[in-house]
Amino acid sequence: MLLDVKNLAVTYAKSAAPTIQGVSFELDAGEILAIVGESGSGKTTVIRAVLNLLPGGGKVSAGTIIFDGKNLAELDNAGWRNLRGKDISMIFQDSGAMLNPVHTIGRQFVEYIQVHSELDKAAAYAMAVEKLTLMNLPNPENILSSYTFELSGGMRQRVGIAMAITFQPKLLLADEPTSALDVTTQAQIVGELMFITRGTGAAMIIVTHNLGVASYLSDKLIVMSQGRIVEAGATQEVVENPQHAYTKSLLASVPEMGRARYV
Ligand SMILES: Nc1ncnc2c1ncn2[C@@H]1O[C@H](COP(=O)(O)OP(=O)(O)OP(=O)(O)O)[C@@H](O)[C@H]1O
Ligand SMILES: [Mg+2]
Repeated sequence: MLLDVKNLAVTYAKSAAPTIQGVSFELDAGEILAIVGESGSGKTTVIRAVLNLLPGGGKVSAGTIIFDGKNLAELDNAGWRNLRGKDISMIFQDSGAMLNPVHTIGRQFVEYIQVHSELDKAAAYAMAVEKLTLMNLPNPENILSSYTFELSGGMRQRVGIAMAITFQPKLLLADEPTSALDVTTQAQIVGELMFITRGTGAAMIIVTHNLGVASYLSDKLIVMSQGRIVEAGATQEVVENPQHAYTKSLLASVPEMGRARYV
């Protein structure tokens, strides 16, 4: 098993009640897990807890996270630096916002590769070109000499995904990776994410508001409401035979559900 989350709780302020509670799930290598649920239900909190990047003084207040046999609570700073961006990497809603607008994409991509490897500049550049090509970005050299504002949202997101998959992470965490994009680009990027994870054997946790995306892409599905998992299981089973009233209402709000229809 790649990731084993047991009874996880996260608390944002010392005296406050936990924001998420009793969250447990397992993920094998190569599996895709989707987390759906209303705004504020704690989806982002779950994946940020896995990466130990909780904002606002958020703390894991109960439970354990075992990744690749390691209890993440026992990692020191050096251990986290090693893990983040290499074995586990994150794809954000708008990768452009994570990049510095005053430097070229190439400079940042090459720097990122060099920080995490022993490669020299030329080899890191070649690697960046290779990863951009994998994400269907034509003229990767052009992209590397561009600034973020010169690219469309879809291209920026592909750059972000290319960076996230550079070191063939075992686990990708994607927080609404397509929700800032138009419908056509969404569909393309969802297809590319699936191609990449299936091709590299990476596991992925994808947070999405879009049940269509979740059902198209994922093997397993978690439905969250008010900080708790209200339903979980194999995606197809949950979608075809929802047990919880909340899941039923989510499904009812997607008029044309089906595994072939994902936007
Ligand atoms: N930085 C923070 N400081 C304090 N509390 C926070 C912080 N971020 C999140 N929370 C709390 O955690 C709850 C869940 O937030 P989270 O971002 O995990 O929800 P979400 O399911 O990802 O929502 P959305 O779909 O809107 O992105 C929030 O309602 C809020 O109470
Ligand atoms: Mg969120």
